[in-house]
Amino acid sequence: MPKVTIVGSGNVGATAAHWIASKELADVVLIDIIEGVPQGKGLDLLQAMPIEKRDSYVSGTNDYKDTANSDIVVITAGIPRKPGMSRDDLLNTNYGIMKDVVGQVVKYSPNCILIIVSNPLDAMAQTAYKLSGFPRERVIGMAGILDSARFRAFIADELKVSVENVTAFVLGGHGDTMVPLPRYSTVAGIPITELIEPAKLDALVKRTRDGGAEIVKYLKTGSAYYAPSAAATEMVEAILKDKKKIVPCAAYLQGEYGINGLFVGVPVKLGAKGIEQIIEIKLTPEEKAALDKSAAAVKELCGVIGV
Ligand code: NAI
Ligand code: 2OP
Repeated sequence: MPKVTIVGSGNVGATAAHWIASKELADVVLIDIIEGVPQGKGLDLLQAMPIEKRDSYVSGTNDYKDTANSDIVVITAGIPRKPGMSRDDLLNTNYGIMKDVVGQVVKYSPNCILIIVSNPLDAMAQTAYKLSGFPRERVIGMAGILDSARFRAFIADELKVSVENVTAFVLGGHGDTMVPLPRYSTVAGIPITELIEPAKLDALVKRTRDGGAEIVKYLKTGSAYYAPSAAATEMVEAILKDKKKIVPCAAYLQGEYGINGLFVGVPVKLGAKGIEQIIEIKLTPEEKAALDKSAAAVKELCGVIGV
């Protein structure tokens, strides 16, 4: 069985462990700085496996030795935002945490693929890429699948169709400047621009952009975790099963889309090697301008922490 380590056994980390084990994708190691919590949650999940009829072995630890030789390491360590905070307000605290974590992960799993979840997502992915020294295909940020899933859920709800019929793309940084692309979003192959009137579509785009904040407002003490962890699990599955699946992820661009040396959300092909291809789709001048604006926001954050 492949081995997946999840750093941070809070809401996103523990729920990702749940999805991964219940799909029997891998054995899962949860690790956290808090003593007892990863062990307790790991044991609890292990005890769910006979009921789920799955043989994933789930365990928890505070010692990176137990994470050795992981195939994939998902990093969710960090503080989440509270009402009134933007993802960017987490920058300095989560940068400090990322520095601690990446060194340990790389020491024990030098060949792993890193999936970064901690916010602000694109700047944390850039941090992990720079600190790990890994090639760019092995450092991937999770955001686009989540943002697209939110858009898909809203479209399906609006048209009262199955979520399975709805595809959608959200590109750019995982922040207020993200770029939902209605032109590349379809219901059973029919562009949504032919199915939803412009004012309604604008409202769905706005709700997608504010999707994280809408949940923070309800939860008050933290941010979303079911859809985020399901999105990370889709990435884990695509890699472990070498699916060659095309999904939006944050990738280190080296000239693609005219952007150089920066993590930004774009369509990628995920397979056993991680990012196996960055797919360049044609953008209108307005879409390209929105992507550039989003990249500029990521660049500004990276500048603050010097990555
Ligand atoms: P949480 O507070 O429930 O869990 C975070 C865990 O990280 C805690 O258990 C904490 O003890 C642990 N931690 C802190 N420092 C650590 C260290 N040095 N080593 C190991 N573990 C450490 O937070 P939640 O809701 O799980 O969110 C985690 C992160 O993911 C946040 O930064 C959040 O903003 C981000 N996030 C990103 C999303 C995305 O789309 N990219 C979506 C949802 C959350
Ligand atoms: C979200 O979009 C907090 O980034 C997280 O829900």
